[in-house]
Amino acid sequence: MIKRDLLFTLFPVKWAKEVLGFQADRWQQQVLESTERQIILNVTRQGGKSTVTAIKALHRALYYPNSLILVISPSLRQSGEFFRKVKDGFQRLSEKPSLLEDNRLSLQLNNKSRIVSLPSSEETIRGYSAVDMLLFDEFARVDDELYQAVRPMLAVSNGQIILLSTPKGKSNEFYNIWHGGEGWLKIEVTADQIPRISEDFLENEKLNMGERAFLQEYYCRFMEDEDALWSNDLINQAVSKEHEAWIL
Ligand SMILES: Nc1ncnc2c1ncn2[C@@H]1O[C@H](COP(=O)(O)OP(=O)(O)OP(=O)(O)O)[C@@H](O)[C@H]1O
Ligand SMILES: [Mg+2]
Repeated sequence: MIKRDLLFTLFPVKWAKEVLGFQADRWQQQVLESTERQIILNVTRQGGKSTVTAIKALHRALYYPNSLILVISPSLRQSGEFFRKVKDGFQRLSEKPSLLEDNRLSLQLNNKSRIVSLPSSEETIRGYSAVDMLLFDEFARVDDELYQAVRPMLAVSNGQIILLSTPKGKSNEFYNIWHGGEGWLKIEVTADQIPRISEDFLENEKLNMGERAFLQEYYCRFMEDEDALWSNDLINQAVSKEHEAWIL
């Protein structure tokens, strides 16, 4: 039994498959296995990013006693949806640990690990400290200021942070970190790489939703914000042309 616990601690992909019946895609395996301090996932809609991070959170809670895992989502509804994925995983455990706390958006296992799922508007978020795993679901839609405010919660625990999202324009931290962030493991997964999303479905989406939205939702592309009068690229081109003119 102890040997099995050690095996599952070290091999979360194997644990997910054997205990939860979850066969992770290759990129999901990388997410489950990675101990990188900072991970950013730029993944298509319906790719499986919330599911795999919920499973990673559950694994952390089960196999590392006393862990505090905090999940932040843009809205109460999304916090609830994320937490349901955690609960689904928990229900699949053949040997369920007893729960010290079992609420609508949080639970605590008998090994003292806690998973707390909160909307970004929740004032109490700022009260947490020594977070071992900090997850932001739909990160591009979370207030950037909140992100800056909660990052220090990882300082003492040396915790892991995982940002997951589909892009939403260029005026947010998701764009900034994806393009300029140093020291991040960056994983991109487009819809054509997901075995559960068919070519036919994508073809139909393309016809129905317009290129801009299609590329953003399914192909991980950071499109210009709709209200931008000039695209950044155009401005950069214009500036560099002017600059060239000065040099000549
Ligand atoms: N490896 C997998 N095997 C089978 N089903 C999976 C796998 N990963 C995800 N799914 C299923 O795919 C669907 C989408 O997953 P999920 O909600 O996690 O995606 P998402 O990337 O968070 O999507 P959204 O951007 O819409 O929030 C769910 O029904 C989930 O159960
Ligand atoms: Mg999701």
